[in-house]
Amino acid sequence: VYERLWLVASMILIVAFIATVTYGTVGLGITMVDDREETLSPGDIDEDERFEDPRIEQVGENEFEAYVVAMTFLFQPDPIEVPANSEVTFYVTSRDVIHSFTVVGTNTNTMVIPGEVSVMTVEFDEPGEYGIICNEYCGVGHHDMEAELIVV
Ligand code: CUA
Repeated sequence: VYERLWLVASMILIVAFIATVTYGTVGLGITMVDDREETLSPGDIDEDERFEDPRIEQVGENEFEAYVVAMTFLFQPDPIEVPANSEVTFYVTSRDVIHSFTVVGTNTNTMVIPGEVSVMTVEFDEPGEYGIICNEYCGVGHHDMEAELIVV
């Protein structure tokens, strides 16, 4: 009799876990759908014209590309403004040391390494405001390293 009870209890627990995970990634208006790394060529941010002027560029009807530079202790551009119901591919690199690009409360999170470009594709479903923070210790101003992401 108790075996059956335990079985039911553990099934409920598993369903609860799945619901929590689903809420964390889908329940919010932002979902990271792809995440990869590229090498900066020829290894220097100043030689790569994509990062000359950190910006958001429209590349298709609902498609955007964002070129973001992290440095002690800020992100450029700030704020990052993207439209709702769009898909944005972020290209993020660092001017100095290792940082991260973390959108608070979402699954959008990547390390940002000098000489490399972190590439992430993110879907924005609804308008909202999010904080971007750095979660890799990068120096005395680490705790103040933040920016704003606005989905309009
Ligand atoms: Cu940048 Cu911590």
